[in-house]
Amino acid sequence: MSDLDQLKISLSAEIAGAADEAAIEAVRVNALGKKGSISELLKTLGAMSPEERQTRGAAINQLKNAVTEAIAARKTALKDQAINARLARETVDVTLPVRASPAERGRIHPITQIIDEITAIFGDMGFSIAEGPDIETDYYNFTALNFPVGHPAREMHDTFFLPPDANGERKVLRTHTSPVQIRTMEGQQPPIRIIIPGKTYRQDSDATHSPMFHQVEGLVIDKSANVANMRWVLEEFCKAFFEVPSVNMRFRPSFFPFTEPSVEVDIQCDRSGDVIRFGEGSDWMEILGCGMVHPNVLRAGGLDPDVYQGFAWGMGLDRIAMLKYGMPDLRDFFNADIRWMNHYGFRPLDLPTLFGGLSA
Ligand code: DAH
Repeated sequence: MSDLDQLKISLSAEIAGAADEAAIEAVRVNALGKKGSISELLKTLGAMSPEERQTRGAAINQLKNAVTEAIAARKTALKDQAINARLARETVDVTLPVRASPAERGRIHPITQIIDEITAIFGDMGFSIAEGPDIETDYYNFTALNFPVGHPAREMHDTFFLPPDANGERKVLRTHTSPVQIRTMEGQQPPIRIIIPGKTYRQDSDATHSPMFHQVEGLVIDKSANVANMRWVLEEFCKAFFEVPSVNMRFRPSFFPFTEPSVEVDIQCDRSGDVIRFGEGSDWMEILGCGMVHPNVLRAGGLDPDVYQGFAWGMGLDRIAMLKYGMPDLRDFFNADIRWMNHYGFRPLDLPTLFGGLSA
């Protein structure tokens, strides 16, 4: 067998064995590149006699053409193979369902929903929103609200105290939203109509208490605001919030340092079935505390109690959320469990409005 035949056999084997485009390119360079085996053979033509060149030269050129063709054919085959593999790999099943957008998958936390509902109700009555800091001074949280130093009502709040600062003053995590009453009176002249939703803190933890919880406070101050106005506002609120045509309310005498008189409000409900029904039945459920703003509180806010008067109320948001939406354990609210959110959360684009329905 001639050397050319041998070379042809070995190159044919290399061509057939090239597994991808890079491998066949390497074979091409080794055979036909500048220093390739066939190119080296071609270089020997110059030193040959004309007769030798005629036979040997033709044979080398034949080999060159055969190998060039074989490489080109293999290259095309490998290219097709690569494209087919890629097409198989990258198929898209257009019959699969479209994935829901974030606006459809996301959920609004029930507390946010309740704040939005309450904002819609009181916004319609002409109230605006006020806010204050979570870390409060003892003055705003207690003293200005007519809790004298050493008064036992301070102990009832199970306060979280921060370490004393350079002046020996101990700030607190606000135990209620009431300090924002004082901050608002300091910064704004009556008439004042505000609600104050926000986080509050007390050292307490069980199924219905969490160390961080939420309240919404209300404050109305002008020259004539009275108990009848307060009763109407709270009744309208309860009807709108619980989405019932009427509610029966019961006002029980109570005590808060910052109101005089102070009352606690119960609403009539029916607890005989699986769910609580409001506006009917023979049971009562406490939902908020309220009263006429104490003259000392008006004074602390820089207002003259002989000119101005008003009423205020405060209620636990988490508690009324649990009541309205039948959520049994408050601790679940703050566990960030996505399954709970999917079950109890609200769709982000279903904003609560009075005309569209609060919770529809
Ligand atoms: N601050 C009270 C609490 O945390 C709730 C409250 C009661 C607020 C009566 C008021 C009010 O404004 O008038 O228990």
